[in-house]
Amino acid sequence: MSGRIPQHFIDELIARTDLVEVIGSRVPLKKQGKEFKACCPFHGEKTPSFTVAPEKQFYHCFGCGAHGTALGFLMEHDHLSFVEAVEELASRAGLEIPREHQQTARPAPSEGLFRMLEEAAEYYRRGLKNSPRAREYFRGRGVAGETAARFGLGYAPDAWDGVLTELGSTDAERMRLLQVGLIIERERRTGSAGSPGFYDRFRDRVMFPIRDARGRTIAFGGRVLDKGEPKYLNSPETELFHKGRELYGLYEARQASRTLTRIVVVEGYMDVVRLHQAGITYAAATLGTATTPEHLSRIFRICSEVIFCFDGDRAGRAAAWRALENSLNQVREGRQIRFLFLPEGHDPDSLVGAEGAEAFEKRLSGAMPLSEYFLSHLSSQADLQTVDGRARLGELARPLIERIPPGIYRELLADELAKLVGLEPSRMGIAVNAPEPPPAAARSAVPAGKSGLRRNLLRQCIHLLVHYPEIAHTVTESGALALVERPGIPLLLELLQELQARPCATTGALLERWRGRPEVEHLAKLAAMECLIPDAAGAARELSDAVHQLAREGAGRRREQLLSKHGREGLTDEEKAELQTLLTTHAGERAEADDRT
Ligand code: UTP
Ligand code: MN
Repeated sequence: MSGRIPQHFIDELIARTDLVEVIGSRVPLKKQGKEFKACCPFHGEKTPSFTVAPEKQFYHCFGCGAHGTALGFLMEHDHLSFVEAVEELASRAGLEIPREHQQTARPAPSEGLFRMLEEAAEYYRRGLKNSPRAREYFRGRGVAGETAARFGLGYAPDAWDGVLTELGSTDAERMRLLQVGLIIERERRTGSAGSPGFYDRFRDRVMFPIRDARGRTIAFGGRVLDKGEPKYLNSPETELFHKGRELYGLYEARQASRTLTRIVVVEGYMDVVRLHQAGITYAAATLGTATTPEHLSRIFRICSEVIFCFDGDRAGRAAAWRALENSLNQVREGRQIRFLFLPEGHDPDSLVGAEGAEAFEKRLSGAMPLSEYFLSHLSSQADLQTVDGRARLGELARPLIERIPPGIYRELLADELAKLVGLEPSRMGIAVNAPEPPPAAARSAVPAGKSGLRRNLLRQCIHLLVHYPEIAHTVTESGALALVERPGIPLLLELLQELQARPCATTGALLERWRGRPEVEHLAKLAAMECLIPDAAGAARELSDAVHQLAREGAGRRREQLLSKHGREGLTDEEKAELQTLLTTHAGERAEADDRT
């Protein structure tokens, strides 16, 4: 089924869904006032800080910051894609999903590529069946037939035109084979004419299909059976395959368990295959590249703990430190990142073969937390007995700590570092977390910190709209707001415009309209903050007051503009009339203010 799911259907789906029922069927909820509480399913805790607000159709965890709508919950908790989550809710609600059909008759171009890769994977699997030598290779490495089937392992026969003749009989097919990196174009000798030739990229190699989150083959890794260079050959980067994003084995890990709690990141294909076979089905590998923040954020969408597992040699330790550096911006409360260093001369494949799964899992439980590895690695680079050494440690650590997003974790690590360096934390020079400004009292007329106050007003407006989307229609001064030059104004205007054009009943529905856009995080944060105003009528009054104050600032600006233009070059009739109005209202407001004091 293809075609976009229209937004109005998402709105309706959210309106027809009972968030408490969806979450309650997976997590035991306890009623507490207007809300429901539970121990958070996304991080380990003993006292419940996971809150479900049925009126808002929104959940939030005060412990780990997880939050979202019914759709978001299904995606996070059941590991569903957006479309799968929509399908799940729709079938619960007995709704048919309408699709916006643009040109669905023609398959998306990538579909042909996926099909080509799948056919190639089949061809390689047949190759394995037909090659006693390749089967003997896997047998020799302890790979069971059942494991080979689970990973779709194969063998690319020793020929220059294997896939080429099998799958590339037309020009269009050869183009596709080229696009997915399975064949290579021959370099034409200078001067020679004629059609270009192609040859197979993978020859005489055992083949590991690399699958995306939905299980579709997007690339291959191929290993030589005997000696040869390179030991592993990977598909090149293609339209479908980006090494910095994909993890080998992640799809298989999700297939093995619906409730993954952790992922072990290893270096090699064989490590993944052997660990899975031994029952450690939560292993995945980066594909001959360093771990990227993108890898991590993919993993953290599935579970909250990552253990990096590296060989005990020099290269392994260097890779581990690089992984740490690339992880820092993914550090959050509620997430765990740890490091396991294997004995010299071993990799996970050989170790699990030698010791068995139980011993390996024991090692995993003892893996070193990121903070510990961070401090011990840096300390080893400086002589802490000397002032110079401690200063050096501070210098090395500071830029790294600053990559961690502001939060408790960062502060704790900075404190630890300060202890080692022997300085007060405040003197380490690490940028401290900006404190959350207190919610604005919109009516207060405190003149001090005017710009801070304005910022709070803006935030207050957005906060109110997020909690009470239904009050958007009460705002009449959007025009004057547009004159205010502040970073949050475009978002506020867009919210007003969107909600006035298509009213929204709940916070959850509002957040779904912003799904996939960067602003949604900000909106969700505001949704998670308590709103002190108990009803929509009160919120509408607060909102119109705050908007009015902001609008006045915009009007003042326009007034200044017109007055100065008047002095310089004169005004058109229209501008004169506008200025007249602005001056009248301004005078009226001044008189009103004088009356009050
Ligand atoms: P290793 O050289 O550590 O090999 O490469 P390995 O995984 O232990 O392989 P086996 O056990 O000999 O089969 C680790 C990973 O680095 C990438 C591959 O992803 C490999 O699994 N690599 C390695 C390449 O991409 N190309 C190479 O030539 C070598
Ligand atoms: Mn190995």
